[in-house]
Amino acid sequence: MNAPERIALRGDLLDFVDRPARADPDSPAVRWLPDHWLLIEAGRIVGAQPAAPGEGWTRIDHAGRLILPGFVDTHVHSPQLDVIGSWGAQLLDWLETYTFPSEQRFADPGQAERGSNAFCDALLAHGTTSAVVFPTVHKVSVDALFDAASARGMRMIAGKVLMDRNAPESLRDDVDGAEGQCEALIARWHGRGRLAYAVTPRFAPTSSDAQLAMAGRLLARHPGLYMQTHVAENPAEVQWVAELFPQARSYLDVYERFGLLNERAVLAHGIWLDDADRALLQARGAQIAHSPTSNLFLGSGLFGWAAAEDAGVAISLASDVGGGTSLSMIRTMAAAYQIQALAGTKLSAWALLHAATRGAAAALGLPHEIGSFEAGAMADVCVWDWAVGPVATRRQQIATRLHEKVFAWMTLADERNLVETWVAGRRRYARGGG
Ligand code: GUN
Ligand code: ZN
Repeated sequence: MNAPERIALRGDLLDFVDRPARADPDSPAVRWLPDHWLLIEAGRIVGAQPAAPGEGWTRIDHAGRLILPGFVDTHVHSPQLDVIGSWGAQLLDWLETYTFPSEQRFADPGQAERGSNAFCDALLAHGTTSAVVFPTVHKVSVDALFDAASARGMRMIAGKVLMDRNAPESLRDDVDGAEGQCEALIARWHGRGRLAYAVTPRFAPTSSDAQLAMAGRLLARHPGLYMQTHVAENPAEVQWVAELFPQARSYLDVYERFGLLNERAVLAHGIWLDDADRALLQARGAQIAHSPTSNLFLGSGLFGWAAAEDAGVAISLASDVGGGTSLSMIRTMAAAYQIQALAGTKLSAWALLHAATRGAAAALGLPHEIGSFEAGAMADVCVWDWAVGPVATRRQQIATRLHEKVFAWMTLADERNLVETWVAGRRRYARGGG
């Protein structure tokens, strides 16, 4: 039998051993191992050490570079790369004008396959190795996405979008047909390799009561499924939900009434929530996928990080492309910082990086698989340049403390800083084609 493949990556290793406080630049939750070798065996992290390992290890020297766990993007739409940067609309107009027409193309298996491969490659080229993804209402779009993720060894959580009203005819399903398709997709994909199924009602306005009830039945029937949807993103949307569901106390309460909230629920946005909503999220263990570039670009509003965190709600970070303006989780972190700066809430680089790695992993119930360099975790790893270009280079040269260095990196870097992306111990992206 062949010995398992052993790979060692040299660089400045940074991950988290705990959740950092919101604004502590000296947080003890940070694990900083400058100029260490990260040891990978058979696709998993096995340790880190200052000295180069000996015989039997393939050594890859990235001395002077930053090595982080691969990012986790907890809310992104695979068919929406084509609508990124579409002009002049808030959420409901944007869906009708740009997004729904584009999603119709994923009914075609060839388009779904090409689009899903391009999407997964783009995630990897931005340093994202795990994602929670909306494909489209078409079953073929889910198969194509899971095929593409599986071919690259990525951790992916996704499911068929449910929409049986308030959407174009060609994007609508019906309760019975959708239930049968979900069951087939769950049987085929859930728990296969690194893939998991998420029951995916798009948002309350596009599902009837009967469809939301069906989504709740799926979750009850298959413990371990995820649930993903949008909530309280835009004021006009919130108003519409109040009209469509007059019996619900709030937008979030619609999902509660149909049994959709649990510790595997990922709710995008959550800008227009109140204290009772936050208490409910905390009680159910559901997380908010905060999507700052989308919230700014679609003019949706400013997410209240401190209110959510202080209520005990888990917050992860998400690109929400194509509403968001970049797949880069670095740009996402920088935008999250700026939104909180407006509110007078200071977020440390640690709070942000944690939310994009170990924090998201914990919120998804996957702390032993993704988001850190714990021994036994899958070797999803990215190698970054500390600086690209003269301004960032100078800024890094004069930075003295670690937090200053990492915060300046977060502010100035983007996907052009990415050197390599490794997934489960295999190099899946190299800048310039490697
Ligand atoms: N709400 C319902 N669908 C969508 C979507 O595709 N993007 C965003 N940002 N919000 C939504
Ligand atoms: Zn979204």
